[in-house]
Amino acid sequence: MAGASGSLGRHVIREALRRGHTVRALIHRSPLPEEFTDVVAKVHRADALDRPQLAGVCDGVGVVFSCLGASVMPSFGKGRRSYRQVDTPANCNLIDEALRAGVERFVYVSVAGRDTFGHLEYVRAHEDVVAALDESGLDYAVVRPTGFFSAFAEFLRMAAKGPVPLIGNGTAETNPIHDADLASVCVDAMEGQARHHEVGGPEIVTRRGIVERAFAALHKPVRLIPMPATIVRAMALLMRPINPRVSHFSAFVAAVSMNDLVAPPHGSRILSDYFAELSPP
Ligand SMILES: NC(=O)c1ccc[n+]([C@@H]2O[C@H](COP(=O)([O-])OP(=O)(O)OC[C@H]3O[C@@H](n4cnc5c(N)ncnc54)[C@H](OP(=O)(O)O)[C@@H]3O)[C@@H](O)[C@H]2O)c1
Repeated sequence: MAGASGSLGRHVIREALRRGHTVRALIHRSPLPEEFTDVVAKVHRADALDRPQLAGVCDGVGVVFSCLGASVMPSFGKGRRSYRQVDTPANCNLIDEALRAGVERFVYVSVAGRDTFGHLEYVRAHEDVVAALDESGLDYAVVRPTGFFSAFAEFLRMAAKGPVPLIGNGTAETNPIHDADLASVCVDAMEGQARHHEVGGPEIVTRRGIVERAFAALHKPVRLIPMPATIVRAMALLMRPINPRVSHFSAFVAAVSMNDLVAPPHGSRILSDYFAELSPP
């Protein structure tokens, strides 16, 4: 289980343990959440970008699951290397190690919407991992989700402090998914035979609707800062030499703010309830 300390990773561990699987966790800088320290079989700390550090990590493992990647909360404190410089080589190193150890199956988390957004660097970095899996000869599955609820929690934090930027007119639609509902799809992918799982949540909302739900959960009037997508795209271009990660993710955010990103629905949890749980009573 690579990316074990991340937003999705911790839900996948919980779900895999709930179904009775033995879990080994690969962590990097962040610690494994305390709830797992006594229940996972083994914790291996490594920088997956450094191939020798992965030696032996897949030995005796049946299925490798990876949601390992550079943060989708790019900020100036969280590293500037692009997704292509982190996600692609780190996961390719893990694929090599999985091959060497003879694992049965490799499940990887990419991004939904490759038909519309596949030209963007953020998506390409993930899909290059899928291409490497395809070439590896390993049995594999790829899960391609829409946005996780945990990523939209940022709107709640912004709404608590003041107005929230809205890119474009906010009418583009999507169906974000609760990290726990997605974890269930991920464990299904580990247990099953199917190769491709494009997945979103049960409710289709507009980008404006997502921000409105954040304000509603806080019982505050909606306050928006309109932001043309052209400005966000221009900022992303300017940012590219300084912070490629922020640049590439901003370009992706501009694109999904202007185009629908809806995937087959899964799960039952809705965003308003999630925001309400995170908000003060
Ligand atoms: N969040 C979304 O809305 C969304 C939507 C679609 C797809 N995705 C994709 O789904 C995946 C998981 O997303 P997430 O939100 O759960 O990400 P996350 O919370 O940032 O977790 C990523 C994990 O990868 C680990 N990691 C990063 N670099 C590593 C390295 N060099 N060696 C070993 N481990 C490393 C991180 O550990 P450290 O923190 O210790 O470095 C962390 O545990 C990502 O590939 C993301 O692009 C996310």
